[in-house]
Amino acid sequence: MAGQGGSGAAARAGGGRGVVISDNWPGYSLDLFTYPQHYYGDLEYVLIPHGIIVDRTERLAKDIMQDIGDNDIVVLCVLKGGYKFCADLVEHIKNLSRNSERFISMKVDFVRLKSYHNVLIVEDIVGTGRTMKVLLNNIEKYKPKMIKVASLLVKRTSRPDGYRPDYYGFEIPDLFVVGYALDYNEHFRDLNHICVINDHGKAKYRV
Ligand code: HPA
Ligand code: MG
Repeated sequence: MAGQGGSGAAARAGGGRGVVISDNWPGYSLDLFTYPQHYYGDLEYVLIPHGIIVDRTERLAKDIMQDIGDNDIVVLCVLKGGYKFCADLVEHIKNLSRNSERFISMKVDFVRLKSYHNVLIVEDIVGTGRTMKVLLNNIEKYKPKMIKVASLLVKRTSRPDGYRPDYYGFEIPDLFVVGYALDYNEHFRDLNHICVINDHGKAKYRV
């Protein structure tokens, strides 16, 4: 895979770092993995296999744990695309906190706002960042003590001024991706790997 993001506290200072997938990354052949038969012929290649998503998420959970210290948090899952990442991230935080005897209370909510103390927003993908800025403005009205954003993916768009989340798993090329709860017209959420859809798939599920 393309270059790794830096690791450690120094690399994280001033915003998140993630695995960078370069524009010329060819991905993995679909023949090397399993995936639902109803998507045969609809995909170009595997961009990020499921196992790598899960392993990277475990590390994000560790980084988040370190940063939030003993504070309790409310995890705000941005539906629908965020649900897989959110579920796996919360599971990893729970496991890490159980093993470290530093138990962090986590309440999970789904963008329904009340008064919150410490909020971790969990998103699937950040593109231009416009959606995230609107959401952040809304949540800031409730004056939480802390707001952090974790996104599984950040897309390199033509707008380099794009918003950067505090934590992210992978920076990806400007491609339309599906799988791991990311959809194309509500399809492909049941695909485990993050894949690039092909023209046949786009035509088949076009609305
Ligand atoms: N896939 C699915 N949903 C999205 C994407 C994408 O690449 N970008 C923004 N929303
Ligand atoms: Mg989303």
